[in-house]
Amino acid sequence: ITGLRDIFLSQEEYLDTEVMVSGWVRSNRDSKNFGFLVISDGTFFTPLQVVYHDSLENFAQAAKLGVGAAVIVEGKLVATPEAKQPFELQASSITVEGDTEASYPLQKKRHTLEYLRTIPHLRPRTNTFQAVFRIRSQVAFALHSFFQERGFVYVHTPIITASDTEGAGEMFQVTTLPLESVPMEKGEVQYGEDFFGKKTSLTVSGQLNGETFAQAFRDIYTFGPTFRAEKSNTQRHAAEFWMIEPEMAFADLDDVMFIAEDMLKYVIQYVLVNAPEELEFLNQFVDKGLLDRLNHIVESEFARVTYTEAVEILQKQNDRFEYKVEWGCDLQTEHERYLTEEVYKRPVFVTDYPKDIKAFYMKLNEDGKTVAAVDCLVPGIGEIIGGSQREDDYEKLKKRMEELKMDLEEYEFYLDLRRYGSTRHGGFGLGFERAVMYITGMSNIRDVLPFPRTVGNCEL
Ligand code: 4AD
Ligand code: MG
Repeated sequence: ITGLRDIFLSQEEYLDTEVMVSGWVRSNRDSKNFGFLVISDGTFFTPLQVVYHDSLENFAQAAKLGVGAAVIVEGKLVATPEAKQPFELQASSITVEGDTEASYPLQKKRHTLEYLRTIPHLRPRTNTFQAVFRIRSQVAFALHSFFQERGFVYVHTPIITASDTEGAGEMFQVTTLPLESVPMEKGEVQYGEDFFGKKTSLTVSGQLNGETFAQAFRDIYTFGPTFRAEKSNTQRHAAEFWMIEPEMAFADLDDVMFIAEDMLKYVIQYVLVNAPEELEFLNQFVDKGLLDRLNHIVESEFARVTYTEAVEILQKQNDRFEYKVEWGCDLQTEHERYLTEEVYKRPVFVTDYPKDIKAFYMKLNEDGKTVAAVDCLVPGIGEIIGGSQREDDYEKLKKRMEELKMDLEEYEFYLDLRRYGSTRHGGFGLGFERAVMYITGMSNIRDVLPFPRTVGNCEL
C-alpha cells in the first residue's frame, strides 16, 4: 500500500500507473452512477480524491460509506489539470477495512477547538490537529538535529527526583500505593509512604542533573517531560509539559543567548521547509500572520534589553497594565507581550533580573542585586525560554543556598561540581509546547499537547 506522502512527493512516478492506497473517508459525494470519495491516510496533509463508478461490484456499499470509514482503494492515478487537485484516483476496487457509524462526531463542518478538546481520542484526525501534531513531531526532531550536529550529548535525566530545581515548591509528590491495595510480604518496603522512605517528587527541570554531565561532556542537552503543580489555569501553562535544556561548560550568558537564538531559527527554518502544506493551512485558518512572522524571524536579529531597562520602558505604560511595574517585580505575561509585540516587534532577550525573583543557582552579578539570567520573550506568547549563567563560585553558591534555607546535604552533589574543576557554565530551558504554539500559531497550550494535563484536566 503506497502512502499519500510518497504519491504527492513523487507525482511523476505514479501518474498513469495502478496504485493501492489506504485511508479514512473525509467526505463522500455520490450521484446516480458515480461518486467522489476524499480520503486521507495521515502520511500527507493533503487528502486524495477518489472517483468511483457503478461498474464497481460494491458500488452501493461505496456510495453509502460514511465519514470516518477506513478503506483500501486500488486504481489508476490520473492527472486532472483543470481541477483544484493535481490528480485523482480512478477506483477499480474499494475494500472496506472498517465501516463507521452515523454517530461519528467529526463531520465535514468545522468544529470548535473547545469541542475537539472533549474528544482527545478523535481530534488527531482533523486537519488542524494533523497539522499541529506533525509539526510537533518535526520540532522535536529538528531540536535533536540542531544539538546533535553541534556535538551536544543527549542526557536522559530522571523523572523522579529529590531536588526542587526552581525552588518554587510546585512539585507533585511521589508516593507508593496505599497499604490496603497491596498484599504485602513480611520485610517488604512500606507502602503508603514516600519513595522507599525518601521524600521525592516529579521533576520540574532536568537542569541540576544536566549540569553534572556538562561538567564531564561540556555540551549536553536534556529533552523530556517535566511537571509543575502550579495552579496557573492559563492558555500557556500545563501541569505536564516537555522541556529541552541545553547546558554548556566554559560558557557565559552571551553564549547561552547565541545558541538559543540559533536554535529557534534553525527549528523554524526546518518546519518552513518540511511542513509547507501544514503551515499554509494554519496560516489560512488559525493565524493569518503566521507565515510572514516565521519568515521574518529567521532573518531578524533578536533584541536585547536588561530587566532594569525593560522596567523603565514598562513603567511609562503602567496605566495600561493590570499589574503595575516597579523594579523588583516579576514580569507578567501582559508586560512580556507589550515588550515583544509593541516595543520590539520580534523576539527579545531580557537579561539580569533581580536575584530575589530568580532561582538559587543563577550567577550573582557584580552589582550584588541582579543575576546573570535571561528570558526569551516572543510575540503572541511571552516567555518561551528561561536560562542563566550558573553560579560557579563555591562560597557564593553556598551562601545563597543558606540564605534560602535549602537543605545543603541534599545538594552536596551540586556543591561538589564547584569544588572539583568548576567552570563558567550556563544553559536554558525551552518550553517545548510554547515553541510549538509559536510555530503553529495555536493560542492554547491544550491544543499542542496530544493529551493535555492542565489544572483540573487529566482525560485519557
Ligand atoms: O523558566 P523555567 O522555569 O526554567 C527552568 O526550569 C530552568 N531550569 C531552565 C534551565 O535553565 N535549564 O522554565 C523554562 C521554560 C519556560 O521559559 C517556559 O517556556 C516553559 O519552560 N514552562 C512551561 N511551559 C508550559 N507549562 C508550564 N507550566 C511551564 N513552566 C515553564
Ligand atoms: Mg522562567
